[in-house]
Amino acid sequence: MSYIEFRNVRKEYIMGETSILALRDASFHVEKGELAVILGSSGAGKTTALNILGGMDRATSGSVIVDGRDIVKLNNRDLVTYRRHDIGFVFQFYNLVPNLTALENVEFATQVSSNALDPKQTLVNVGLGDRLDNFPSQLSGGEQQRVSIARAVAKNPKLLLCDEPTGALDYATGKQVLKLLQDTCRRDGITVLIITHNTALAPMADRLIRFRSGQVIEEKTNPSPADIEDIEW
Ligand SMILES: Nc1ncnc2c1ncn2[C@@H]1O[C@H](COP(=O)(O)OP(=O)(O)OP(=O)(O)O)[C@@H](O)[C@H]1O
Ligand SMILES: [Mg+2]
Repeated sequence: MSYIEFRNVRKEYIMGETSILALRDASFHVEKGELAVILGSSGAGKTTALNILGGMDRATSGSVIVDGRDIVKLNNRDLVTYRRHDIGFVFQFYNLVPNLTALENVEFATQVSSNALDPKQTLVNVGLGDRLDNFPSQLSGGEQQRVSIARAVAKNPKLLLCDEPTGALDYATGKQVLKLLQDTCRRDGITVLIITHNTALAPMADRLIRFRSGQVIEEKTNPSPADIEDIEW
Protein backbone atom coordinates (compact mmCIF):
# COMPACT_ATOMS: atom_id res chain seq x y z
CA MET A 1 0.00 0.00 0.00
CA SER A 2 1.25 3.49 -0.85
CA TYR A 3 1.69 6.27 1.69
CA ILE A 4 -1.15 8.22 0.07
CA GLU A 5 -3.94 6.37 -1.74
CA PHE A 6 -6.65 8.57 -3.18
CA ARG A 7 -9.14 5.99 -4.44
CA ASN A 8 -12.27 6.58 -6.53
CA VAL A 9 -13.00 9.86 -4.82
CA ARG A 10 -16.22 11.64 -5.70
CA LYS A 11 -17.03 15.12 -4.50
CA GLU A 12 -20.41 16.61 -5.14
CA TYR A 13 -21.24 20.17 -4.15
CA ILE A 14 -24.98 20.67 -3.76
CA MET A 15 -26.16 24.22 -4.33
CA GLY A 16 -29.91 24.53 -4.03
CA GLU A 17 -31.43 22.71 -7.00
CA THR A 18 -28.17 22.09 -8.81
CA SER A 19 -25.09 20.09 -7.98
CA ILE A 20 -21.52 20.21 -9.22
CA LEU A 21 -19.42 17.10 -9.49
CA ALA A 22 -15.94 18.45 -8.71
CA LEU A 23 -14.34 14.99 -8.51
CA ARG A 24 -15.63 11.92 -10.35
CA ASP A 25 -13.84 8.80 -9.24
CA ALA A 26 -10.44 10.47 -9.08
CA SER A 27 -7.60 8.13 -8.13
CA PHE A 28 -3.87 8.59 -7.63
CA HIS A 29 -1.19 7.58 -5.18
CA VAL A 30 1.99 9.07 -3.79
CA GLU A 31 4.84 7.31 -2.01
CA LYS A 32 6.40 8.57 1.20
CA GLY A 33 9.02 11.27 0.65
CA GLU A 34 8.00 11.98 -2.93
CA LEU A 35 7.48 15.38 -4.48
CA ALA A 36 4.33 15.24 -6.59
CA VAL A 37 3.32 17.94 -9.06
CA ILE A 38 -0.38 18.25 -9.85
CA LEU A 39 -1.35 19.79 -13.19
CA GLY A 40 -4.68 20.48 -14.85
CA SER A 41 -6.79 23.27 -16.24
CA SER A 42 -8.93 25.60 -14.17
CA GLY A 43 -11.89 23.84 -12.59
CA ALA A 44 -10.39 20.37 -13.06
CA GLY A 45 -10.67 19.56 -9.34
CA LYS A 46 -7.10 20.06 -8.16
CA THR A 47 -7.88 22.27 -5.15
CA THR A 48 -10.84 20.10 -4.22
CA ALA A 49 -8.58 17.03 -4.16
CA LEU A 50 -5.91 18.78 -2.09
CA ASN A 51 -8.48 20.11 0.39
CA ILE A 52 -9.91 16.62 0.85
CA LEU A 53 -6.42 15.19 1.33
CA GLY A 54 -5.70 17.92 3.88
CA GLY A 55 -8.88 17.27 5.85
CA MET A 56 -10.31 20.70 5.00
CA ASP A 57 -13.15 19.20 3.03
CA ARG A 58 -14.83 15.79 2.96
CA ALA A 59 -15.23 13.38 0.06
CA THR A 60 -18.76 12.40 -0.91
CA SER A 61 -17.52 8.84 -1.47
CA GLY A 62 -14.32 6.92 -2.05
CA SER A 63 -11.37 6.47 0.26
CA VAL A 64 -8.34 8.57 1.09
CA ILE A 65 -5.65 6.57 2.83
CA VAL A 66 -2.82 8.49 4.44
CA ASP A 67 -0.15 6.49 6.24
CA GLY A 68 -2.46 3.51 6.56
CA ARG A 69 -5.55 5.37 7.78
CA ASP A 70 -8.70 6.21 5.80
CA ILE A 71 -9.37 9.86 6.62
CA VAL A 72 -12.79 9.74 4.93
CA LYS A 73 -13.91 7.59 7.86
CA LEU A 74 -12.63 9.93 10.59
CA ASN A 75 -15.15 11.71 12.81
CA ASN A 76 -14.96 15.50 13.04
CA ARG A 77 -12.78 15.52 16.12
CA ASP A 78 -10.24 13.12 14.68
CA LEU A 79 -10.23 15.09 11.44
CA VAL A 80 -9.28 18.24 13.37
CA THR A 81 -6.43 16.37 15.02
CA TYR A 82 -5.32 15.03 11.64
CA ARG A 83 -5.31 18.55 10.18
CA ARG A 84 -3.39 19.97 13.13
CA HIS A 85 -0.70 17.33 13.42
CA ASP A 86 -0.27 15.75 10.03
CA ILE A 87 -0.85 18.53 7.50
CA GLY A 88 1.07 21.64 6.51
CA PHE A 89 -0.69 23.88 3.98
CA VAL A 90 0.84 26.54 1.74
CA PHE A 91 -1.56 28.83 -0.12
CA GLN A 92 -1.15 31.06 -3.15
CA PHE A 93 -1.70 34.24 -1.12
CA TYR A 94 0.29 33.18 1.98
CA ASN A 95 -2.61 33.63 4.48
CA LEU A 96 -0.37 34.95 7.25
CA VAL A 97 -1.96 36.59 10.29
CA PRO A 98 -1.30 40.30 9.59
CA ASN A 99 -0.91 41.47 13.18
CA LEU A 100 1.57 38.75 14.16
CA THR A 101 5.29 38.92 13.33
CA ALA A 102 6.97 36.29 11.18
CA LEU A 103 8.12 34.44 14.30
CA GLU A 104 4.71 34.74 15.97
CA ASN A 105 2.99 33.39 12.86
CA VAL A 106 5.16 30.28 13.00
CA GLU A 107 4.85 29.94 16.79
CA PHE A 108 1.08 30.22 16.55
CA ALA A 109 0.91 27.28 14.13
CA THR A 110 3.27 25.10 16.15
CA GLN A 111 1.23 25.54 19.34
CA VAL A 112 -1.43 23.15 18.07
CA SER A 113 1.04 20.54 16.85
CA SER A 114 2.45 17.72 18.97
CA ASN A 115 5.99 17.24 17.64
CA ALA A 116 6.72 20.69 16.27
CA LEU A 117 10.16 21.98 15.30
CA ASP A 118 11.74 25.12 16.75
CA PRO A 119 10.01 28.13 15.10
CA LYS A 120 13.07 30.36 15.14
CA GLN A 121 15.35 27.70 13.64
CA THR A 122 12.78 26.92 10.95
CA LEU A 123 12.72 30.58 9.92
CA VAL A 124 16.53 30.61 9.87
CA ASN A 125 16.37 27.57 7.57
CA VAL A 126 14.20 29.42 5.04
CA GLY A 127 16.65 32.33 5.08
CA LEU A 128 14.63 34.69 7.26
CA GLY A 129 16.69 34.63 10.46
CA ASP A 130 17.07 38.41 10.30
CA ARG A 131 13.37 39.10 9.69
CA LEU A 132 11.84 37.35 12.71
CA ASP A 133 10.24 40.50 14.14
CA ASN A 134 8.82 41.86 10.89
CA PHE A 135 5.09 41.89 10.26
CA PRO A 136 3.83 40.41 6.97
CA SER A 137 3.24 43.92 5.53
CA GLN A 138 6.96 44.63 6.01
CA LEU A 139 7.97 41.59 3.93
CA SER A 140 7.99 41.03 0.16
CA GLY A 141 5.67 38.47 -1.40
CA GLY A 142 8.47 35.92 -1.68
CA GLU A 143 9.48 36.48 1.94
CA GLN A 144 5.88 36.12 3.09
CA GLN A 145 5.63 32.86 1.18
CA ARG A 146 8.82 31.65 2.88
CA VAL A 147 7.26 32.48 6.27
CA SER A 148 4.20 30.51 5.26
CA ILE A 149 6.38 27.54 4.23
CA ALA A 150 8.24 27.80 7.56
CA ARG A 151 4.88 27.88 9.33
CA ALA A 152 3.77 24.71 7.55
CA VAL A 153 7.13 22.89 7.91
CA ALA A 154 7.55 23.79 11.61
CA LYS A 155 4.52 21.67 12.42
CA ASN A 156 6.66 18.74 11.24
CA PRO A 157 3.77 17.45 9.15
CA LYS A 158 3.46 14.17 7.28
CA LEU A 159 2.27 16.02 4.18
CA LEU A 160 3.10 19.46 2.86
CA LEU A 161 0.26 20.52 0.55
CA CYS A 162 0.86 23.55 -1.67
CA ASP A 163 -1.87 25.12 -3.79
CA GLU A 164 -0.24 27.29 -6.47
CA PRO A 165 2.51 28.44 -4.07
CA THR A 166 4.20 30.59 -6.72
CA GLY A 167 1.03 31.88 -8.37
CA ALA A 168 1.55 35.40 -7.02
CA LEU A 169 5.33 35.57 -7.38
CA ASP A 170 7.69 36.71 -10.12
CA TYR A 171 9.98 34.26 -11.93
CA ALA A 172 13.08 34.47 -9.74
CA THR A 173 11.17 34.58 -6.46
CA GLY A 174 8.95 31.72 -7.54
CA LYS A 175 12.02 29.67 -8.35
CA GLN A 176 13.47 30.32 -4.88
CA VAL A 177 10.23 29.17 -3.30
CA LEU A 178 10.17 26.01 -5.42
CA LYS A 179 13.79 25.32 -4.50
CA LEU A 180 12.83 25.62 -0.85
CA LEU A 181 10.01 23.13 -1.35
CA GLN A 182 12.25 20.71 -3.26
CA ASP A 183 14.95 21.00 -0.56
CA THR A 184 12.37 20.45 2.16
CA CYS A 185 11.24 17.28 0.44
CA ARG A 186 14.74 15.94 -0.14
CA ARG A 187 16.40 17.03 3.11
CA ASP A 188 13.59 16.48 5.59
CA GLY A 189 11.91 13.60 3.77
CA ILE A 190 8.51 15.31 3.91
CA THR A 191 6.03 14.23 1.25
CA VAL A 192 5.21 17.33 -0.81
CA LEU A 193 2.33 17.91 -3.24
CA ILE A 194 2.36 21.04 -5.39
CA ILE A 195 -0.51 22.25 -7.56
CA THR A 196 0.65 24.46 -10.41
CA HIS A 197 -0.46 25.77 -13.80
CA ASN A 198 3.14 25.78 -14.97
CA THR A 199 3.64 22.62 -17.02
CA ALA A 200 7.37 23.40 -17.26
CA LEU A 201 7.70 22.32 -13.62
CA ALA A 202 6.86 18.70 -14.45
CA PRO A 203 10.55 17.60 -14.63
CA MET A 204 11.15 18.61 -10.97
CA ALA A 205 8.62 16.04 -9.77
CA ASP A 206 9.14 12.48 -8.61
CA ARG A 207 5.53 11.98 -9.66
CA LEU A 208 3.28 13.83 -12.04
CA ILE A 209 -0.50 13.79 -11.62
CA ARG A 210 -2.71 15.39 -14.26
CA PHE A 211 -6.37 16.26 -13.66
CA ARG A 212 -9.11 16.83 -16.21
CA SER A 213 -12.83 17.30 -15.52
CA GLY A 214 -12.68 15.84 -12.02
CA GLN A 215 -10.60 12.81 -12.95
CA VAL A 216 -6.94 11.91 -12.99
CA ILE A 217 -6.08 11.35 -16.65
CA GLU A 218 -2.36 10.76 -16.24
CA GLU A 219 -0.07 9.64 -13.45
CA LYS A 220 3.57 8.93 -14.05
CA THR A 221 6.75 8.67 -12.05
CA ASN A 222 10.04 10.26 -12.95
CA PRO A 223 13.09 8.22 -11.96
CA SER A 224 15.48 11.15 -12.31
CA PRO A 225 13.81 14.43 -11.38
CA ALA A 226 15.60 17.65 -12.28
CA ASP A 227 16.88 20.21 -9.81
CA ILE A 228 14.60 23.21 -9.99
CA GLU A 229 17.66 25.39 -10.62
CA ASP A 230 18.20 23.57 -13.91
CA ILE A 231 14.66 24.18 -15.18
CA GLU A 232 13.91 27.27 -17.26
CA TRP A 233 10.51 28.48 -18.42
N1 LIG B 1 -17.28 25.03 -2.28
C1 LIG B 1 -17.70 24.82 -3.54
N2 LIG B 1 -19.00 24.91 -3.85
C2 LIG B 1 -19.43 24.69 -5.11
N3 LIG B 1 -18.63 24.35 -6.14
C3 LIG B 1 -17.32 24.26 -5.88
C4 LIG B 1 -16.79 24.49 -4.59
N4 LIG B 1 -15.44 24.32 -4.65
C5 LIG B 1 -15.16 24.00 -5.93
N5 LIG B 1 -16.28 23.96 -6.67
C6 LIG B 1 -16.38 23.61 -8.11
O1 LIG B 1 -15.71 22.38 -8.32
C7 LIG B 1 -14.97 22.40 -9.53
C8 LIG B 1 -13.50 22.12 -9.24
O2 LIG B 1 -12.96 23.23 -8.54
P1 LIG B 1 -11.46 23.30 -8.03
O3 LIG B 1 -11.36 24.53 -7.20
O4 LIG B 1 -11.10 22.02 -7.38
O5 LIG B 1 -10.67 23.45 -9.40
P2 LIG B 1 -9.11 23.70 -9.64
O6 LIG B 1 -8.62 22.59 -10.50
O7 LIG B 1 -8.42 23.94 -8.36
O8 LIG B 1 -9.13 25.03 -10.53
P3 LIG B 1 -8.13 26.32 -10.52
O9 LIG B 1 -6.94 25.92 -11.32
O10 LIG B 1 -8.93 27.40 -11.18
O11 LIG B 1 -7.80 26.66 -9.10
C9 LIG B 1 -15.24 23.77 -10.15
O12 LIG B 1 -16.27 23.64 -11.08
C10 LIG B 1 -15.67 24.61 -8.98
O13 LIG B 1 -16.52 25.65 -9.38
MG1 LIG C 1 -7.46 25.59 -7.50
